[in-house]
Amino acid sequence: MSGFLRTGLRRGGLIAVTVLPLGRTVELASGKRLLDALLLASGVTETEDCSGPARCRICHVLVVRGARGLSKVRKDERDWLDQIAGAEPESRLSCKAVLGNHEVTIQLINH
Ligand code: FES
Repeated sequence: MSGFLRTGLRRGGLIAVTVLPLGRTVELASGKRLLDALLLASGVTETEDCSGPARCRICHVLVVRGARGLSKVRKDERDWLDQIAGAEPESRLSCKAVLGNHEVTIQLINH
């Protein structure tokens, strides 16, 4: 297997994000929000999310695989996650997580 495949990078530097239980994989550029991948995979064009300030918490997901492919959890995100009942160590607010250079698989919580 080549390093190209191991990192999850696709042609054009796109990152593969698989969204469960939808079973859909979408590809986005590094630097995009995980929420953008979630919306693309869900076919949702408009949401009632808070668009990133982490107030609504509807974008809560579990990272099943590839956590190292995401930006680190910052204090503001950690503080919000600590207030969500049922949040796990693998939890992320997808509006706060930014794609890096590795493939990621996430599980929807509120679907
Ligand atoms: S979009 Fe509102 S908390 Fe993430």
